[in-house]
Amino acid sequence: MSKERVVLAYSGGLDTSVAIPYLAEELNAEVVAVAIDLGQGGEDLEVVRQRAEGCGAVAAEVVDAREEFAVDYCYPAVAANALYMDRYPLVSALSRPLIVKHLAQAAIKHSATVVSHGCTGKGNDQVRFEAGLAALAPHLSVVAPARDFAWTRDKAIAYAQKRDLPIDVTTKSPYSIDQNLWGRAVETGFLEDLGNAPIEDIYSYTADPAQPRDGDTVVISFDGGRPVALDGETKTAFELISELNYRAGQQGVGRIDMVEDRLVGIKSREVYESPAGIALIAAHQELENITLEREQARFKRGVDQRWGEMVYDGLWFSPLKDSLEAFIDHTQKHVTGDIRLHLHAGKATVTGRWSDASLYDFDLATYDEGDTFDQSHAKGFVELWSMPAKLAAERNERVKKGE
Ligand code: ARG
Repeated sequence: MSKERVVLAYSGGLDTSVAIPYLAEELNAEVVAVAIDLGQGGEDLEVVRQRAEGCGAVAAEVVDAREEFAVDYCYPAVAANALYMDRYPLVSALSRPLIVKHLAQAAIKHSATVVSHGCTGKGNDQVRFEAGLAALAPHLSVVAPARDFAWTRDKAIAYAQKRDLPIDVTTKSPYSIDQNLWGRAVETGFLEDLGNAPIEDIYSYTADPAQPRDGDTVVISFDGGRPVALDGETKTAFELISELNYRAGQQGVGRIDMVEDRLVGIKSREVYESPAGIALIAAHQELENITLEREQARFKRGVDQRWGEMVYDGLWFSPLKDSLEAFIDHTQKHVTGDIRLHLHAGKATVTGRWSDASLYDFDLATYDEGDTFDQSHAKGFVELWSMPAKLAAERNERVKKGE
């Protein structure tokens, strides 16, 4: 009988490299390593692929999911103005469902019955992997060596040295870092002390916002809620986000230092950088401010927040998230136009907006000549608007007196 096959989500780092021979032995299985390119940059993924083979994978592949990530994951996050706890642009949370999708496809292709990932038992990512798999490929079982076999860093280093695995154990950073096109997440190490300020070394997508330099100005064009052009030049989603990461990153835009509520119940210190994410959401929010009708806009803020929480909590593939997205998509019909952003000293500031679908009416808004707003209607409107609160206040007085 042929051996069972395990599809491993492979990053090229120490933990998932060690997992290859370990899983092969422990489960008496063949390991297929799959690395997903989400625009994380850094190491050449062909080198990563060869390393997986060097560690004993029977097959190793790299999936180029960069454009798919940008179009189907980052852009919906822009439409939802997605900031968990009003700050975190969901960098890691957006990537996991797409990784899961490609792992499930690889499992079919390689007739695997098991999927493996490198997450620990303390984080959100294990939930995102496994909740995603439960929805997309419920027949697959899951093994997470770091969590299920209590792997530690020291144990992994010793194992890699004993087996002479082709991985440099000395370069492992003191932080846990996850990065992709949408940004970077840095945690652990000295950041676990909430009083410690982040040091410049931990950043890589952004320059120090405190350094004096000239600012930059960019015009972002949206069509139906989706960014389509930078400074008038049409771009694919991947190109647009990459370019904006560079330009906003040069100005130190998108650094976030926060304490966050994890799904597993703990609070954790996280440092993020998401230059394009923060710039695009600022621009998109402003375009909504001029194109969404007031009640729709107010209601959408709650939907946006819920969408972000669902995605954070690992429920990308779930009915409520789909329903919220149907609402969000419906609201984006008129979110078309241009936003000018000034990028400087860590901030992305809106300085201009233009839209053919704008609800801003100059003649109604102006305090100058040509005002078309009929102020004579206001007095009666205000009176009726205030009536319920006035009646309640009168009642409170009356009841109190009767005590
Ligand atoms: N706390 C963030 C989240 O849950 C970032 C996770 C980063 N993952 C990592 N393996 N370092 O989305």
